[in-house]
Amino acid sequence: MIKEMQQEILRLKKERDACILAHSYMSEEICEVADFTGDSYALSVKAKTAPQSTVIMCGVRFMAETVKMLSPQKKVVLANPDAGCPMAEQFDKEIIEQLKESLPGYAVVAYVNTTAELKTVCDVCVTSSSALKICRAIPQKDIIFIPDINLGTYVANNIPEKNFKLLHGGCPTHARMTKADALKAKAAHPGALFLVHPECRPEVVELADYVGSTTGIMEYAQKSDGKEFIIGTENAIVQHLQFRCPGKKFYPLSKDLLCHNMKVTTLADVYDAVRGKGGEEIVMDEKTRLAAVRCIEKMIEYGG
Ligand code: 13P
Ligand code: SF4
Repeated sequence: MIKEMQQEILRLKKERDACILAHSYMSEEICEVADFTGDSYALSVKAKTAPQSTVIMCGVRFMAETVKMLSPQKKVVLANPDAGCPMAEQFDKEIIEQLKESLPGYAVVAYVNTTAELKTVCDVCVTSSSALKICRAIPQKDIIFIPDINLGTYVANNIPEKNFKLLHGGCPTHARMTKADALKAKAAHPGALFLVHPECRPEVVELADYVGSTTGIMEYAQKSDGKEFIIGTENAIVQHLQFRCPGKKFYPLSKDLLCHNMKVTTLADVYDAVRGKGGEEIVMDEKTRLAAVRCIEKMIEYGG
């Protein structure tokens, strides 16, 4: 059944001139039918260049919004309309506007996990893989970093020459992981390297052998001479790595490292979206799009 559905999706996407983008947190069977899989940054770049007239986004809503911002002429469909990212909605633009007024001269750097509306009041976006590079590259020394306090702390610790104002937002999935969880996993697998997403708490990040985006973690594990790895990000990455490297062993930091929003999209949703019977088309008014797209364009410009 999975194979049949995949074959039908592959046939339909050609027939309907659709491109399927899948974030690396999607299941193996969705990634297999995607034209492109990757982390948030790679998907943003791909969104700009995909030649097809329709893009089906298998990920969460802000990712589909990013595609729409960069390709307004394309039909952009979020494969499952219930897939949101709680972090993206933690602040509204009025709060950020007030903060900007009270801190003149600060650049507002937004993690890409934010709504299009919030992006309209920000200067530049970053992703987990581009945050360090971009915060170093922007001319401002003073930075308001929103919304993730954990990613913000990681960036601030690595760029001591700049001054960061952080807010108390973050990813409920990664922030659930405690130092005790990390120590327990390390004790259970003493020979394993510990690879961590910077959305985890600083005390978890401190214990890591490598800190990076979902793609960064996957590349590190695949190239490493190590044979065992504890994966400190969504458990889909454990599965993808086990497929790619059958000779190595991958363990989840915790069985609770699951993003329910990312998990909501199924292969059947992708099938329905590609045949025009499901998903949600992203609609964005031009004023919001133009105001929000600037900081995505800046991210791509500074991120190389
Ligand atoms: P990446 O930027 O590593 O793809 O992460 C996105 C995300 O939602 C992590 O929780
Ligand atoms: Fe959002 Fe966290 Fe899920 Fe990523 S893992 S989509 S940041 S809730």
